[in-house]
Amino acid sequence: MKSKGSAYINTIGCQMNVYDSEKLALILNSNGYRQTSDMDQADIVVCNTCSIRHKAEEKAFSFLGRFARIKKKNPHLVIVMAGCVAQQEGKKAFKRVPHLDIVLGTQAFSRFGRHIAAVKAGRQKIVDIEDSQKIYETMPDTSEFDFDRLKENKISRFVTIMQGCENFCTYCVVPYVRGKERSRKPESIIKEISLLAESGIKEINLLGQNVNSYGQQEGDTSFAQLLFQVSKIQGIQRIRFATSHPKDLSMELIHAIKDLDKVCNHLHLPVQSGSDKILGKMNRGYSRQTYIKRILDLRKQCPGIGISTDIIVGFPSETRDDFSDTMDLLREIKFDSIFAFAYSDRSSAPASKFSHQVEEKEKADRLNNLLELQEHYTKEKNLSLIGKTLEILVEGKSAKKHNGFEKNRKNLEQMTGRSECNKIVHFPSEHATVGDLIKIKIKNAYPHSLWGYPAGVLN
Ligand code: 5AD
Ligand code: SF4
Repeated sequence: MKSKGSAYINTIGCQMNVYDSEKLALILNSNGYRQTSDMDQADIVVCNTCSIRHKAEEKAFSFLGRFARIKKKNPHLVIVMAGCVAQQEGKKAFKRVPHLDIVLGTQAFSRFGRHIAAVKAGRQKIVDIEDSQKIYETMPDTSEFDFDRLKENKISRFVTIMQGCENFCTYCVVPYVRGKERSRKPESIIKEISLLAESGIKEINLLGQNVNSYGQQEGDTSFAQLLFQVSKIQGIQRIRFATSHPKDLSMELIHAIKDLDKVCNHLHLPVQSGSDKILGKMNRGYSRQTYIKRILDLRKQCPGIGISTDIIVGFPSETRDDFSDTMDLLREIKFDSIFAFAYSDRSSAPASKFSHQVEEKEKADRLNNLLELQEHYTKEKNLSLIGKTLEILVEGKSAKKHNGFEKNRKNLEQMTGRSECNKIVHFPSEHATVGDLIKIKIKNAYPHSLWGYPAGVLN
């Protein structure tokens, strides 16, 4: 197709947004717009937005706000707000960003090409926040992506397997901005991953707000069965997935992690709080004790499994004692890593109406305390790996010179990759190339990475 110009895409938020932005780029491409990294020269600017926390939402508005001046100079510039903030705000988005042309909700992506054409043909403004049952089936395949032009990791890709959520945790906007839970058909997922594998992709990260309930709404393939099918695809070496909900973590899934070689020995299992009172108010559907029991089951079945979690501090009515329960949970479980957030009030989520909101300063203090405590366990976990041999999927050259390389007398290339448990590992190597699986003996541990030598090469 003849080039009609260029498009710049800014992605804010989670892994699903990264995947969605690839879809947007493909749609733009098939409509004659190539991707550019120069936002000032672009003919179309898209911001794929996130509304999970106030800060992410502000980031979107401030990015789009910058284009008011540019649009004045170049009225043909098309400005698009896509994703969760677009879905949440609808036409209200024009109040804060009057120079916007298209507000594209989370389920409107397949109609994006049509909207661009309409705006280019002189239509004023478009808001599309309609529901859609089949979201990804009606969009171009990610495997058609020209990854060479992306200049990024070419061995690992995200593939969204389901959208939406019906758990209605009281702090969370996702059920309101991503809609009802819908699973993609297994055939469509398998086809997409097979094509990715043919193009050289080695690792697949399956995405959904709650992958454990994959297929429960429609069809009869469970998530564990889907993992089984994906692991049969030739060329795929590793399978990761996120996010799992503790209340739906089945023994079937635990066994799939244990039995399927390609499924990484790692689980991201958000706990959110260590206090039963707060878990109840969050509507999480499990108690502290059931969460701990799940972790014990996992560790029993899958020894050495890496476990990470999400935690929110300062949820409305969280007292210091409740927060202490969360600190104690960290001491008891000793996660490999955590993602911790200060509770952010979202007006569309029920918790915004809860009484006893916690002061910002108190939330910030709790967040610091929690991160400080975890830092200790992350380091302890990393230190415990010294002397062990880990299988690493090579991702590329190390960006920075690592202390450990002072001993690297031969001045070999410094490479980096990840272990099954998702630890970043740096190592010197003459032969390793991107996409190789290589055994590395760990010699040293740092707070956020490990360092070692290819096993059997050096002492
Ligand atoms: N405030 C703070 N953190 C939140 N998360 C979701 N909603 C909020 C909110 N309102 C966190 C949860 C979730 C992660 C993706 O984001 O920990 O697991
Ligand atoms: Fe949000 Fe809860 Fe659904 Fe996760 S499970 S997306 S936290 S409502």
